[in-house]
Amino acid sequence: MDTVSPLQKIRYQYNPKLPAILTEAIQSIGFAEGQKTHAKTDEEKLLQLFPNTYGKPIVTLTKGTSDKLSKQLTVGVILSGGQAPGGHNVIAGLYDGLMKGNTNSQLIGFKGGPGGLVDNSYSILDKNTIDQYRNTGGFDIIGSGRTKIETPEHFSKARETVKKHKLDALVVIGGDDSNTNAALLAEYFIKEGIPCSVIGVPKTIDGDLKNEYIETSFGFDTATKTYAELIGNIQRDAASARKYWHFIKLMGRSASHIALECALACRPNIALISEEVEAKKQTLKEITETICSIITVRATQKENFGVVLIPEGLIEFIPEFKKLISTLNDLLAHHAQEFSAIESQDDKINFVSEKLTDELALLYKSLPHDIKLQLILDRDPHGNVQVSRIETEKLIVAMVEKRLAELKSQGIYTGSFSYQTHFFGYEGRCAFPSNFDADYCYSLGMTAWALAAGGYTGYLSSVRNLTKPASEWIAGGIPLTMMMNIEKRHGAEKPVIQKALVTLDSKPFKTFAAQRDTWAVHTSYRFPGAIQYFGPAEVADRPTETLLLEHQ
Ligand code: FBP
Repeated sequence: MDTVSPLQKIRYQYNPKLPAILTEAIQSIGFAEGQKTHAKTDEEKLLQLFPNTYGKPIVTLTKGTSDKLSKQLTVGVILSGGQAPGGHNVIAGLYDGLMKGNTNSQLIGFKGGPGGLVDNSYSILDKNTIDQYRNTGGFDIIGSGRTKIETPEHFSKARETVKKHKLDALVVIGGDDSNTNAALLAEYFIKEGIPCSVIGVPKTIDGDLKNEYIETSFGFDTATKTYAELIGNIQRDAASARKYWHFIKLMGRSASHIALECALACRPNIALISEEVEAKKQTLKEITETICSIITVRATQKENFGVVLIPEGLIEFIPEFKKLISTLNDLLAHHAQEFSAIESQDDKINFVSEKLTDELALLYKSLPHDIKLQLILDRDPHGNVQVSRIETEKLIVAMVEKRLAELKSQGIYTGSFSYQTHFFGYEGRCAFPSNFDADYCYSLGMTAWALAAGGYTGYLSSVRNLTKPASEWIAGGIPLTMMMNIEKRHGAEKPVIQKALVTLDSKPFKTFAAQRDTWAVHTSYRFPGAIQYFGPAEVADRPTETLLLEHQ
């Protein structure tokens, strides 16, 4: 039997659409440079940290001439962080660009993320390999990893690898942290006299790496469409069976872009947005009350069913939990040895409870047993709570169930409450990229090649004008330093690319907020269905609701 599915076979043949400029012969592609750029804040500190790469101009690929694109190049590529659909197409676009420029060029893939560069673990990516991954999901062509190039030892090992391969450029495909790393590497290589460009590519399903010049990170389109399909199916099931409330947690780390996009696409009864919870300083009790009042009204309509979307990072944005989490982080850091010597889980819970202030101890004790444990046991390498592993959907359900029982005893709630919980995250990260992500990623990869050939360093590959047909997309590079500011991380000031959270004055949020009261009470579900790879462009090439609203 064939090992490759029929869809995979057909997707191998798909020719991603490109911005018109990238379809030109290399002799007709030039670079237009804009004005010197500035960061929004912390300019002086950034200039000190990046004396060689700060303030560079924005670059746009235009019709023109340049003798640089035909250069023979050796380029390294790294996939960094969580998987996002389209990563393989970035690599395919980069490879095809390199071959378009000069067929003697070479592409080296560092395995398992930035750690592959540090350890010089690599494979040569040739046509045969690339062809097996075109338009497919996943990062398995070379693998990914979350190692950060942070220590002086990491930097010098990375330098040795670059020297060994005589790399002309390194392309880092990653999110805000990985691209911050790319900016540091670019500066470091110049300081060390290593002629290797560093170009970043904006990746993350979370959608939080965006700004004026980066309209969206790749992977957001496919991941949200995958979740929206599943949510739509669940909505239809809920409306058919009329017996369950479904509580669905959605990935996205701190930002609620995924939850907001899915809400716009599906119109569920309730969608919580962490950034709003924080802005309005809503407590868990208030959130519970809002959900219960909607469940109560729907019960009077004999609609004992519904769908609630919960962003992954919600708990961090509820003020009292923020306080509890940071207190627990400090407390467990100070009592690490004592705490690990305690054997039973209940004793661990008691140990922690006794050390909290009365207010926090009350909150902690009110939580379901599993959540109490998740808050103290599951910790990241820095000793912090792994917020994404906390089963917020179960916490919310437990609070809602308890409150509904009270409301029932008071005769206010007359329905019957049964529920299901879900967590959608990994299901969407490696889907076959939508046409949008396949085209966008291929274009980003080819743009990265052009920037590298042009000798630019410390830039993020950028493809803009994304709500227009691909032929009208604008390709170029944005200096990484202009997206940075200085933030306190683990007690020290660090330059970082700003994370873009949902803003309450944005078009997507306002559109959602204007309709949610109707969706809450009157079932208004939309069923987006599965991603379409073939067929009418208004379905198969449609960008996300978020992107469409942001660029209306
Ligand atoms: P990045 O793109 O920022 O690396 O993360 C994407 C993500 O899917 C988050 O939404 C999620 O919180 C996290 O990765 C899960 O990480 P892991 O794959 O390590 O479990």
